[in-house]
Amino acid sequence: MQPTLHQLKVFETAARHRSFTRAAEELYLTQPTVSIQIKQLSKAVGFPLFEKLGKQLYLTEVGNHLFSTCQAIFGELDQFEMMVTDLQGMTQGKLHLGTVTTCKYFVPRLLGAFCEQYPGIDISLKITNHSQLEKRMLENLDDLYILSHIPPGLDLEVRPVLKNPLVVIAPANHPLVGEKNLPISALNHERFIMREPGSGTRNAVQGLFHQYQVNVQIKLDLGSNEAIKQAIAGGLGISVLSRHSLNGREYTDLAILDVEHFPIEQQWFVAHLAGKHLSVVAETFLDYLLMMTDQADMPWKSFQ
Ligand code: PGA
Repeated sequence: MQPTLHQLKVFETAARHRSFTRAAEELYLTQPTVSIQIKQLSKAVGFPLFEKLGKQLYLTEVGNHLFSTCQAIFGELDQFEMMVTDLQGMTQGKLHLGTVTTCKYFVPRLLGAFCEQYPGIDISLKITNHSQLEKRMLENLDDLYILSHIPPGLDLEVRPVLKNPLVVIAPANHPLVGEKNLPISALNHERFIMREPGSGTRNAVQGLFHQYQVNVQIKLDLGSNEAIKQAIAGGLGISVLSRHSLNGREYTDLAILDVEHFPIEQQWFVAHLAGKHLSVVAETFLDYLLMMTDQADMPWKSFQ
């Protein structure tokens, strides 16, 4: 027979008070019920737990050990309960987020407002490309992921968040700036700056170029959207980037080319591993993310 948590609680209370009567009062039980529970516990343990000398109740050696064990168990349980209560109140906890690079144009802004609302929450935000994010998913490193291409072969729960259009960006003085409805073949032989292998943006661009047999001259592979914008402005070539990377701002040194089949209409999704138990913090952020990205007056809506 295994001792039950209830029996341990009754025993711990009786041991603390060195009295069955006081234990009964504290636990709102009758004194005979306390006696029976302790008798059964003693039987389960295989040793007497108390001994009575005169009117005084003492713990036996085994009883003393069990008392320390119970105090440790109930201490831990109290801590756990406190943590859960705190989490439910959103007063503490940690959120692990993984996003692709293009999301850095809206996720940190959202996090700012979220943290203001829940100042006790710590955030770990990993910004990386698609293939690295997929590795993180396989290792179950984050609570939530925001990305465009859902990796096949992974069991995920997925919800759409925002559109992520990919546009052709050129230096402001490029001869094609201002032309309307350029055929995609106009990009042939252009000097091109490409995102690094493993990037979802790169995959999307290569897919489209392959489909329409566009042959650009790749001058440079760069792992950063910001560095690519600088390289375009510096005259190294043109590129295809998320419109979000322009941040809704007017640039004097960059321009979007109006090319057929662009923008490449992509969509960001928020995902988590199917069956993963989301913490209260993660659930709350997920609701917040879905609500905020759905609001028409948010800055990122204007350049979708
Ligand atoms: P990437 O992904 O950072 O891997 O290019 C961006 C995206 O698909 O939005």
